[in-house]
Amino acid sequence: MRRWRSLQALPSYMGGKRKLLGQIFKHLPGPTHSPVFIDAFLGGGSVSLMAKARGYRVVCNDIALRSRIIGEALIANDRVTLDEADVLRLFAPPSNDSFIADHFAPNVVPSKHARFLDGAFTVARSVEGPKHWLLMLLLVKYILRLRPMGNFGAKTIIHQIEEKDWDAMRPSFLREIVHRGIDAHPKLMCEILRKQINAGIFGNGQVNQVSCLDVFDFLGQIDGGDILYLDPPYASTSSYEAALNPLDSMLAGQMIKPEPSVFSRRNAVAALEHLFEVSQRFPLWAISYGNAELSLDDLVAIVRMFRRDVHTESFHYIHLTGLSSAEKRESNREFLIIAKGEK
Ligand SMILES: C[S@@+](CC[C@H](N)C(=O)[O-])C[C@H]1O[C@@H](n2cnc3c(N)ncnc32)[C@H](O)[C@@H]1O
Repeated sequence: MRRWRSLQALPSYMGGKRKLLGQIFKHLPGPTHSPVFIDAFLGGGSVSLMAKARGYRVVCNDIALRSRIIGEALIANDRVTLDEADVLRLFAPPSNDSFIADHFAPNVVPSKHARFLDGAFTVARSVEGPKHWLLMLLLVKYILRLRPMGNFGAKTIIHQIEEKDWDAMRPSFLREIVHRGIDAHPKLMCEILRKQINAGIFGNGQVNQVSCLDVFDFLGQIDGGDILYLDPPYASTSSYEAALNPLDSMLAGQMIKPEPSVFSRRNAVAALEHLFEVSQRFPLWAISYGNAELSLDDLVAIVRMFRRDVHTESFHYIHLTGLSSAEKRESNREFLIIAKGEK
């Protein structure tokens, strides 16, 4: 699929489906036949953004604030953009908090950026309406851009940036740091991110919605929908709550104790079965799932408990290369299941 400019607006997201968008939508009826697209696990937003571009009415949801920010800024909002003055305000906070500098510098983010982020969050939280969400999205992208491959584990490289120890750094990382503007003034990175975000803002003639609920509450309260896209965390993979805990804590302005989702746990099959059970009133399901714990046959057997007509595809897929070993990358499979026809 050709690179689509609006995707730049999204943060790089663990488990994101950017590279599978063509495969996913190829199997789905268009919005004239199936107008309402439900994305129950919004994550980094790529599937909802594509559904919006295709003209569906998008109703999306994720339990995490990090995803709600994406949904409010890019799915529900269809005309408000960030101008230069909005971003400059981030550099003149009325007061300065030091939560990020105190808890995350210099192991997670370099001190210079931590000080900027503390002030910028104070400003972003004081702004209301779509601009609030757009500024919060800019800060999410900013934080992830500081981290090699979006991974919050590595400390050494952040220490090297802190100490400007460029000689010690791997040349590929050094190039990346310069390319991302991490060694420059925060204004440079903000300006790059502002333009990226604005590239993802468009209307599609629909009223698109976002919720921030546990998936079972969400599915229980929505009226209806034509296509239900399910991309839950995969059983036996590192949970979003643990892997992205520094980001979630910065967004919350306080340290959060990560509580892994039921879908990330080992033997999450019961949660998956329950999810399908409560999804029966949606005529068409598109399901993404990985092979960490279940084979495609295992997964199909579960889906067949609820649906007659089941189509499957399997792809060799690499998520965030920095987070997995070569062996694991080789064996990683991503499944796509299209299921319809009530039993
Ligand atoms: C595989 S990701 C979705 C990726 C997304 N399709 C994309 O392209 O970026 C799974 C998402 O499920 C969310 N999640 C985990 N448990 C949840 C729950 N119980 N209810 C709702 N969302 C949940 C996580 O926060 C995470 O963002």
